[in-house]
Amino acid sequence: MSEIASKTRSGNLLLAIESSCDETAVAILRSGTQTVASVVASQIDLHRAYGGVVPELASRAHLSLIIPLLDQALKEAGCDHFGRSRDGSDAISAVGATYGPGLIGPLLVGVSAAKSLSLAWGVPFVGVNHLEAHLYAALLEDPDMKFPAVVLLVSGGHTLLISMQAPGRYSVFGSTVDDAAGEAFDKVARYLGLGYPGGPAIEQAAGALSSDARTKDRVRFTPPMLNDGLDFSFSGLKTAVVQYVDAHPEVSSAVVAAAFQESAIEVLVKKTKRCAELISARSICLAGGVAANGPLREVMTQMGERSGRRVYVPSRAMCTDNAAMVAAAAHYRLFVDGPSPLELGAAPNLAFPGHG
Ligand code: KG4
Ligand code: ZN
Repeated sequence: MSEIASKTRSGNLLLAIESSCDETAVAILRSGTQTVASVVASQIDLHRAYGGVVPELASRAHLSLIIPLLDQALKEAGCDHFGRSRDGSDAISAVGATYGPGLIGPLLVGVSAAKSLSLAWGVPFVGVNHLEAHLYAALLEDPDMKFPAVVLLVSGGHTLLISMQAPGRYSVFGSTVDDAAGEAFDKVARYLGLGYPGGPAIEQAAGALSSDARTKDRVRFTPPMLNDGLDFSFSGLKTAVVQYVDAHPEVSSAVVAAAFQESAIEVLVKKTKRCAELISARSICLAGGVAANGPLREVMTQMGERSGRRVYVPSRAMCTDNAAMVAAAAHYRLFVDGPSPLELGAAPNLAFPGHG
């Protein structure tokens, strides 16, 4: 039987592709735990002029970036174009890709590239849920995570409070009823004229304020649904910002940004704490692009310390979209479920496993 048909090439390397939104990324892991290559090309500059991701531009950028990035990752991992290490000691034995949720065009680029490599190299293909991949960012950096853990997954499209009993075993306890946390940061930043992407712009504007300005011009937005269950709502907070700015045009954008950020963090941390108490969590874990926010990382860590729980905070590069987390999730999925069929298509509206 040919190598392509048998799909049994042995080796300890797994290559994965991430292309769900505006980052094209390729990573190679050894034994599911050791990152031997991880490259990310961000399209932020491309979309900045439009104040948000333009799907068609993103698709084209992924198309032109994917081959150079694959080349670069293979080179960094010391592999040839057949996915074999040049010293003959190892080989890529599986290829994974994010297949949803995300933008259809960008997803198709990564999924098609991964399937092509799977066929060419004669190795299994594994489709990965992008949201589940975010959970593997912390696990990859700290494999001894204590369970049960509460994971706060906050990205541009999702806000989820997840009870994680073990890798692959999850229950969703809370989600947003309207905007996602990252979406709220992006919309508020756009309204305040702070630029794109909104999360880092708001963090930077708020961080640049002197402590004098912070206390003198103190503005406070009531954290939305603070005492109300485990679900989130950010659309009202965004409206409160707009109404405040209309009524107080003299107050600087930085002061308003700081107040918005404080309110959003307060509700994210308080609900995470409530969920941790409810499930008697041993630890707390941050995931997703908004988890790159410095004040959120700080306040969450302090809350965890006070409540006797370890807080796992992935490095900033592992919070935002990358392929190392996708490779770690692919390694786990391959082990538990086996390969995905090559018929698996891109799934733009894919939900978190077991949710919705
Ligand atoms: O996980 P991610 O890279 O992509 C998605 O899967 O959505 O998250 C992107 C989101 C954007 O909304 C961005 O504004 C937000 O994460 N973000 C931040 C920060 N860095 C990225 N939000 C707040 N503070 C940051 N430093
Ligand atoms: Zn993401």
